[in-house]
Parts: sequence; structure tokens; C-alpha cells
Amino acid sequence: MLKVLCSFALLTLIFNSGFSQTKKPGIIPQPASVTWSDGFFTIDHNTEFVIPDTTKGTSNLSGVMHEAIVKTFGFGPKISSRPRSSTPAVYFLISDVRDESLGNEGYQLVVNPQKIRIIANEQAGLFYGLQTLLQLSPLPDNLVIGIDPVINIPAVTITDYPRFPWRGLMLDVSRHFFNFNDVKRYIDQMALYKFNVFHWHLSDDQGWRVEIKSLPNLTKTGAWRVPRTGLWWTFDPPKENEQATEGGFYTQDQIREVVKYAADRHITILPEIDIPGHSLALIASYPELSSTGKPYPVNPGSKFYGSSDNSLCPGKEVVFEVLDKVFTEMADLFPCEYIHIGGDECNKSFWKTSPECQALMKRENITGMNELQSWFTKRIEKMLKSKGKKMIGWDEILEGGLAPEATVMSWRGMDGGIEAAKMGHHVIMTPTSNCYLDLYQGDPANEPATYSMLRLSDVYKFEPVPANINPALILGGQGNLWTESVATLSHAQYMTWPRGMALAEVLWSPASLKNWDGFTSRMEYQFDRLDKLGINYSRSAFDPIISMIEDNGKKKISIKTEINGLQVFYSFDESFPDRTYPFYSKPIDIPNGASRIRAISLRNNKKVSKVISIDLKELAKRPLSN
Ligand code: ACM
Repeated sequence: MLKVLCSFALLTLIFNSGFSQTKKPGIIPQPASVTWSDGFFTIDHNTEFVIPDTTKGTSNLSGVMHEAIVKTFGFGPKISSRPRSSTPAVYFLISDVRDESLGNEGYQLVVNPQKIRIIANEQAGLFYGLQTLLQLSPLPDNLVIGIDPVINIPAVTITDYPRFPWRGLMLDVSRHFFNFNDVKRYIDQMALYKFNVFHWHLSDDQGWRVEIKSLPNLTKTGAWRVPRTGLWWTFDPPKENEQATEGGFYTQDQIREVVKYAADRHITILPEIDIPGHSLALIASYPELSSTGKPYPVNPGSKFYGSSDNSLCPGKEVVFEVLDKVFTEMADLFPCEYIHIGGDECNKSFWKTSPECQALMKRENITGMNELQSWFTKRIEKMLKSKGKKMIGWDEILEGGLAPEATVMSWRGMDGGIEAAKMGHHVIMTPTSNCYLDLYQGDPANEPATYSMLRLSDVYKFEPVPANINPALILGGQGNLWTESVATLSHAQYMTWPRGMALAEVLWSPASLKNWDGFTSRMEYQFDRLDKLGINYSRSAFDPIISMIEDNGKKKISIKTEINGLQVFYSFDESFPDRTYPFYSKPIDIPNGASRIRAISLRNNKKVSKVISIDLKELAKRPLSN
């Protein structure tokens, strides 16, 4: 009997290890079609990467691929334009006959034991095929320079193309400045998940970040604020004679380099200059541009909204002269067909008492404040058009009348986007309810301080195309990372990943393939890669979600998890729970004397979350969850 049991245990062991070895790589975003086969293609330092001359374009595929392979595997690949020997090789090919089903960004990737072949209509497809190939390649646990790894890539046939042409992430570099190298690292990470638009929020009340040679005060004054650390919106305003030492800006040479760096990774940079509101850094540099004309400092993260005049004055001609200089240089720096002009949350209170605004309204027959902003925005659209650019604005640009050719970025929900699409305008959907990466992603008492809530599953549920709207008008969607509470690249990564993975899948993969359990399982494979690549991310989706409910007039505690298949254990006795503690199965009574609950998620007896800890008095202040 013992012998039988032993061989059964041995068999189980063999089966399990065999199973884990054959567990397939978890690709994100999920490709349109994946068919696994048996066997492997082995890449080592002898493998040739064949990129024929016909695939040459502006995007430097071989340079980017060389860098990616050195970074991930620790050796420089042999790249040639024709196979030099009969050894197995990895081929990148532009198809002779265009395959319409792949579009401009799609690709087909075939891995068999003899060769790997990536074929596409355009360079972008080859680049995305390379990203998928890298995701298929197991990363070594330790990169030891000088010892070449042998990489076994499972045989597979993948046909893949994106659902939307606009797959964006926005980084706010005004509230906290992210230097030129940080921005490149952020772009690298976007490329891993096939994002193709980097929306660069370059100006706001807390800093101006782009060198405009004809307006030197922007970077002499507007790029700098007094240093403050801690909770944003609680900071003291600048003291008398206090030096503004925090901040920075990008030189035009740096911007050109980042634009090229992004283009090599098939990412377009959409620059944003936020006007006429959110303009305090611009006004600090040139005070004559506001209605009051007062000399305000750049805001360091203290409360000011409503009391300081952070809006450009549409009644002053000098505003348009300055903006013309800004947009002339921006149009030259950024090849993107669009410029984003913000337009959100404009404080118009100072316009009401401005003689210049009143005179303009009389002259132009403008009836209200929204119409005044609309008049300003339409004039800016013409200015951009004269420089060969199209205009994008946040959904406030609908108020008072939408400019004739504007594209709307819908952020206060989907309604602005729906309204714009009904008028035949293009729309990018980025509603706070699904796309704001600056919000909490787990329990507020156990996360870096911010506000509101956007869980991973809220992002995954996002559907960018509303019912009864022409889908061709919805260019796609975008995640926005505002950085009031985000001061470092590591924290920016924590806020972006994995919610950015969920968004990548929403924007790239066919809607019919959406599958939450499948996504979260593939996400764990990606976490292992991010660990090895040294990229930060959040595991908050594994945390127990603790709330209070009322059951027959009695307050009880309810616990859920976002990810399925976890077991939660909890404590009320001030100690840290583990698997020997009570197991949560149904709403629990609060024991006498308890002042705090702690809980942890386990899977197969392994801890998979942090310990969540909540003061019960704080919990009682939150809305009941039933
Ligand atoms: C925004 O979040 N104010 C566009």
C-alpha cells in the first residue's frame, strides 16, 4: 500500500512539474488568435535575426530590437539583412501582398522548432510582433553577463491586430517633474503593452515644462516652484523671498530626442498645453496674460483654486501673440498631427469683471462665459490649423459650442464623448470611472494617499464604444496619470501597472475575448517579468476588500476579493493573520472590544496579498456596502 502511495506521489510530482513547465506564457494584451503547438524554438547567442532591407523604415527596428534583446537576455543578437548560414533564424518580413485583415499595426507570428517568422504589412506590425515574441521568451532568473542563456520559445501561431487605433497613456509632468530619462523609461514600458500614444501633459498651474526659445521666462520662472514634500493641497504657499528650486523643463534638443525615441517604438507623442485655465505657470512667467495682471508665483501644491487668477484672458490680444509663439515652436517640435489644448476646469470668475472681456463680448456678441471660452478655443483651433495641426481638447470644449473640427477627449464620464460623436466629431474616451490611474486602486488606508477609487476590475470592464454611436468616430481610449500625489518614477509605475495592462487589453484585444480570470492569470506571468525587468507594479488587486454592511439592523463586516480563487483570513485581536486564523466565509459580527480588523489573502496556502489593516471607527465612517 505504501509503495502504491509513494508511486502515486511521485507521479503527481512528475505531472505537476511537467504541467508547470508547459504552462503557456501569459500574453498581454491577449492576441486576436493564438494556436499553441508542440516543441520549442531555441534562441541562443548564435541565432540570427534576419531583417531584410525591404523592412527598412524610419523606425529603426534593428536598433530597438538589439537593445531589447541585450536588456532582456544579456547578449547582443546577430542581426543581418539576409540569412548568413543555414542555422535556425528569426525572420522579420514585410509581406509582398498586403494582408488587409492585419491593417497597419497587425502581424502574424509563427514559431516552430526550425524558425520564427514575423510578417506584417508595416513596420509597426513587426514591432508589435517583436513585443509578443519577447513576452513568449522566458526571462532568466539572473542575468549573468558572460553566461549566455538558452531561451526556449514555445511553438505557436499568432495572428494579431488592434481593436482601436488610439491606445494612449497620459503622464502629467507639471505637478511633479519627471526628467528626460524617466520619460524614456515610461515610454519603454508603454511599448511592452502595445500602447501607441504618449500624451505629455506639459503645462499646468504647478510648472511649465517645455523650452520655448522666444519666451524665455517660461523656463526661467514658470518651470520652478518652492520645494514641498508630503500631502499635496496641504502645502504652504511660497514664503517671502523663498527660492523656487524644484522642477525643471525639457530643452528642445531633449524633446526632439524623446520624440524620436518614442517613434522608434511606434509611439506618437501628443503634447498638451493646458489653456485657458490651468495656466498659472504661464501667468507666473508673463503676468500680463491674466485678467487681473497680478504677479502670482508658480503654485507648489497649496490650495489656490478660485482665489488666484490661473486663466488666460481672452480679451487681451497679447494672449494670442504669446500663444502663437508657443504653438509655432511646438508645431515644429512635435510631428504628431494633433496638439492638445486642455480646456478643462477653466475658472472664469475673473473674466466676469475684466474690462477687456466685457469689451470683447460686446464687440463679438458673446452671450456668456462658456461662449467666451468657446470663442477663445475656436480662435486657437484656427491658429493650430495655420500651423498644420488639428486640435484636441478635454470635454469642457463642448460647452458654449464645439470648434468645427475639434477632437474631444471625454473625461467627465462618457457623455461628452457621446455628444461630440453625435455631432460627427472624433472622440477619445478616457472617463474617470475607468481610466484615471491617479485614483486609489486598493483600500485607501493601505495605499499611497490619493482620492476616489479605480480598481483593476473597473479598468478591465471599460467599453470605449457607447451603444448607438458610430464606432469609427471613437478613436480609442487612454489612461491618465495625474501626478499631484506621484513624485517618483517608481510610484508612477505602481499607479500604472497593472491597471495599464487591463487598459492595453481593452484597447487592443477583440472585445469578444475579454475574460477576467484569464486576464488576471496572464497578469501574474507579467508580474514575474516586471520583477525581472525591475519595473514596479501594484499587487493591490489581491488584497481583501473590507467593508461594513447592515444585516437586520446590525453592523457586520463583509470581505470580498477582486481576483477569484483566493482565501481570506482575518484578525480582530491586533495581531497579523495567517492561515491559522479564522477563514472568511460569510459576513462577520464585530467582537466586543475590537478596534481594528486585519485581513490577508492566500492561495494554495501561499500569501498573495499584503495585510490590510483598518481602524473600525474609520470603516464605520465609510458608506455601507449594501
Ligand atoms: C482633467 O482631469 N481635469 C482633464
